Amino acid sequence: MKLICNSKASRLAIPILGFALVLILSLASPTTSCTEQEKSSLLQFVAELSDHGGLTSSWKNDTDCCKWEGVACSSNRTVTDVSLAARGLQGHISPSLGNLTGLLRLNLSNNMLSGGLPEELVYSNSIIVLDVSFNQLNGGLQELQSSTLRPLQVLNISSNFFTGRFPSTTWEVMKSLVALNASNNSFTGQIPTMYCVSAPSFALLDLSYNQFSGNVPPGLRNCSMLTSLSAGSNNLSGNLPDELFNLILLEHLSFPNNQLEGSLSGISKLKNLVTLDLGGNNLNGNVPDSIGELKRLEELHLDHNNISGELPSTLSNCTNLMIIDLKSNSFCGELSNVNFSNLPNLKILDLLRNNFNGPIPESIYSCSNLTALRLSSNMLHGQLSESIGNLKSLTFLSLVNSSISNITGALQILGSCRNLTTLFIGHNFFNEAMPEDDTIDGFENLQVLALNHCSLSGNIPFWLSKLRNLEVLLLYGNQLTGSVPDWINSLNFLFHVNLSNNSLIGEIPTALVDMPMLKADKIASKAFELPVYKSQSRQFRMPISFSTTLNLGMNNFSGVIPEEIGQLKALLSLFLGYNKLTGPIPQSICNLTNLEALDLSSNHLTGAIPTALNNLHFLSKFNISNNDLEGPIPTTGQLSTFPSSSFDGNPKLCGPMLAHHCDLAEAIFSAKHKGDKVEKVIFAIAFGAFFCVGV
Ligand SMILES: *[C@@H]1O[C@H](CO)[C@@H](O)[C@H](O)[C@H]1NC(C)=O
Ligand SMILES: *[C@@H]1O[C@H](CO)[C@@H](O)[C@H](O)[C@H]1NC(C)=O
Ligand SMILES: *[C@@H]1O[C@H](CO)[C@@H](O)[C@H](O)[C@H]1NC(C)=O
Ligand SMILES: *[C@@H]1O[C@H](CO)[C@@H](O)[C@H](O)[C@H]1NC(C)=O
Ligand SMILES: *[C@@H]1O[C@H](CO)[C@@H](O)[C@H](O)[C@H]1NC(C)=O
Ligand SMILES: *[C@@H]1O[C@H](CO)[C@@H](O)[C@H](O)[C@H]1NC(C)=O
Ligand SMILES: *[C@@H]1O[C@H](CO)[C@@H](O)[C@H](O)[C@H]1NC(C)=O
Ligand SMILES: *[C@@H]1O[C@H](CO)[C@@H](O)[C@H](O)[C@H]1NC(C)=O
Ligand SMILES: *[C@@H]1O[C@H](CO)[C@@H](O)[C@H](O)[C@H]1NC(C)=O
Ligand SMILES: *[C@@H]1O[C@H](CO)[C@@H](O)[C@H](O)[C@H]1NC(C)=O
Ligand SMILES: *[C@@H]1O[C@H](CO)[C@@H](O)[C@H](O)[C@H]1NC(C)=O
Ligand SMILES: *[C@@H]1O[C@H](CO)[C@@H](O)[C@H](O)[C@H]1NC(C)=O
Repeated sequence: MKLICNSKASRLAIPILGFALVLILSLASPTTSCTEQEKSSLLQFVAELSDHGGLTSSWKNDTDCCKWEGVACSSNRTVTDVSLAARGLQGHISPSLGNLTGLLRLNLSNNMLSGGLPEELVYSNSIIVLDVSFNQLNGGLQELQSSTLRPLQVLNISSNFFTGRFPSTTWEVMKSLVALNASNNSFTGQIPTMYCVSAPSFALLDLSYNQFSGNVPPGLRNCSMLTSLSAGSNNLSGNLPDELFNLILLEHLSFPNNQLEGSLSGISKLKNLVTLDLGGNNLNGNVPDSIGELKRLEELHLDHNNISGELPSTLSNCTNLMIIDLKSNSFCGELSNVNFSNLPNLKILDLLRNNFNGPIPESIYSCSNLTALRLSSNMLHGQLSESIGNLKSLTFLSLVNSSISNITGALQILGSCRNLTTLFIGHNFFNEAMPEDDTIDGFENLQVLALNHCSLSGNIPFWLSKLRNLEVLLLYGNQLTGSVPDWINSLNFLFHVNLSNNSLIGEIPTALVDMPMLKADKIASKAFELPVYKSQSRQFRMPISFSTTLNLGMNNFSGVIPEEIGQLKALLSLFLGYNKLTGPIPQSICNLTNLEALDLSSNHLTGAIPTALNNLHFLSKFNISNNDLEGPIPTTGQLSTFPSSSFDGNPKLCGPMLAHHCDLAEAIFSAKHKGDKVEKVIFAIAFGAFFCVGV
């Protein structure tokens, strides 16, 4: 996935302009009224809605319809505009609107309208702007069987449930068409190109988020006025046709998430490009040197392709670049090829999963507007430079798996990036010592700290206690020793703690089972600057996507599991496996009714399985294997759904899924130890069955 950047300015400008237009038109109206015929067409439209969103308070039969909310007329009292965007309208769109013979603009966007889109409107003889985007309209668009010219200029049917083949010959009679947005529907078939031939001013085509298939049609070459072309997230295949590179007015070219092939060799012809998004395809070859000729380029998204070679130094000629997203390709060579100091507007640089090598180029640190920098999973190396402190806007930094050394230096330097909220620097600094001293400062805004898999030695350091906004702490895969410090419960927002795979000792401290955010409902925090990849296909968009977790597995914790663990009501995952815990499974665990994963395996736990664990209805991962537990495994409820591997290695446990079946005495024992009716009934049935078999 990628960040799709829309120009907020233009989105705002249009409604304001539209509003101004309506205002001017209504102010200019003379005193005579609209015709009865038009009034009744409009009332017919409202009558056929199932929810008119309060419209009838202004749409009254005894008043001039030119003064109705959302209606505007020309000076001769003909209705020209019906603007009812975001009015909460429900029901179907009446064809009666087609009787408004002077209607020029109809905007029903952002409602909950359903049913079909009346042909009278799409193929109207008067309408020039039709916007029904963001509704629940369905059905297909019929091919128009007429050769009468239609005046339609702008058609926005995006974000509905339209299906079927997209009309192709219809566009022949729409010689005035300028913009066509059919994105986010379920249209099928090939991309039509008739409008390229018939409509000389055709400038915008958006077919993204549909099921179009076949090639990118070479016929697009005739769309010579096209400035914006989008067809991302379809099933398009084949090469990028050369013809595409002849659309020299193109400012936005966007075909992400298809199966397109070929190379970018012709791209420099598109001198006006502002955004180029070809991510998530099968493109190969290099980025040509000529990319430097794209002087207006602001966004370059080529992520998730097979593009290789070095980054051309000429990239630094694209001085307007704000976003460079090249993650998951096969780029190689040194990053210092590119002089990033020529890119002062750069906000996002994402080079995740490539084969870049060499040090992190100093020139990156002069991009003072940089908010997100991700260089993870390359072959970079070296130490962080002091100059990274220049990146005052940096909120997201990910340098995972980059052979970086000197963690003390790195953390001292990064502390001065005051706006940093997300720091992923795991898989680096191998075998160094966790900095303990109080020279680590800053990080006031840090929400996510990932220092996992670094084999760091030392204790859980005190400076962490100053990270007041920390929500997610990943320290797994180190060699940390000592106990979990008591200040941990002063981190009021911490809700995901993974300390697994270290050498921590001592009892599970009460401070840990007293952590505010493990007990409370979470407050949703801000989205990550870049989506975080949990795996190739799973991505996290905000810290909250890390589920509420306490992971202390694979350490040397000893003693009993404290009864107070039952306070951590918000927990979704609790991992205590592979420690030296003794005593029973506390009854209070059964109070953690949100739990989805519970792992207590490979400890020395004794006693019976609390049957109330069956109350954990969301539990989908459960492991208590390799302990000294005894007695029967509940034969019904949630626990009975887990395989024997969840229970193995407890010689004194019995149950239908184990080799060791329960005998009568054990079954009675099980029934005695709870008061719950269902279990008693089950026991009675089991008892009855025993006797039947016995007799
Ligand atoms: C329709 O109205 C919405 C909301 O005011 C606006 O964003 C949109 O631009 C309008 N459509 C057209 C085609 O002007
Ligand atoms: C509007 O036109 C339809 C045909 O499209 C016709 O049946 C209907 O009577 C007309 N309604 C009004 C209110 O004029
Ligand atoms: C509106 O009023 C006219 C006469 O004033 C009447 O003929 C017509 O039926 C009314 N329409 C509606 C929808 O009530
Ligand atoms: C009203 O004016 C528009 C142009 O603004 C014209 O197309 C239409 O025919 C006129 N209608 C009447 C009834 O005069
Ligand atoms: C629908 O598309 C048109 C043309 O691109 C655009 O002007 C309009 O703002 C869009 N409507 C919405 C609600 O975004
Ligand atoms: C098309 O409409 C969608 C909303 O459904 C909008 O997000 C997108 O920006 C529009 N496309 C263009 C090119 O304006
Ligand atoms: C697609 O349409 C659905 C339903 O209207 C909407 O929730 C979603 O945000 C739209 N997606 C895009 C990418 O515009
Ligand atoms: C592009 O960049 C190169 C070096 O990176 C430079 O020599 C060349 O003059 C630049 N070309 C233009 C047109 O700016
Ligand atoms: C950084 O961004 C701000 C606004 O986002 C802009 O005004 C400023 O010019 C940018 N700085 C540089 C060096 O481009
Ligand atoms: C730091 O973050 C704050 C709050 O998000 C923001 O207002 C401020 O502009 C940021 N500082 C810089 C230098 O980007
Ligand atoms: C680690 O980085 C700090 C700060 O940049 C520096 O002072 C120190 O010498 C570095 N240590 C090593 C071993 O390179
Ligand atoms: C479970 O929670 C309830 C109420 O929150 C409490 O009364 C009860 O003592 C708890 N049970 C255990 C075993 O902690």
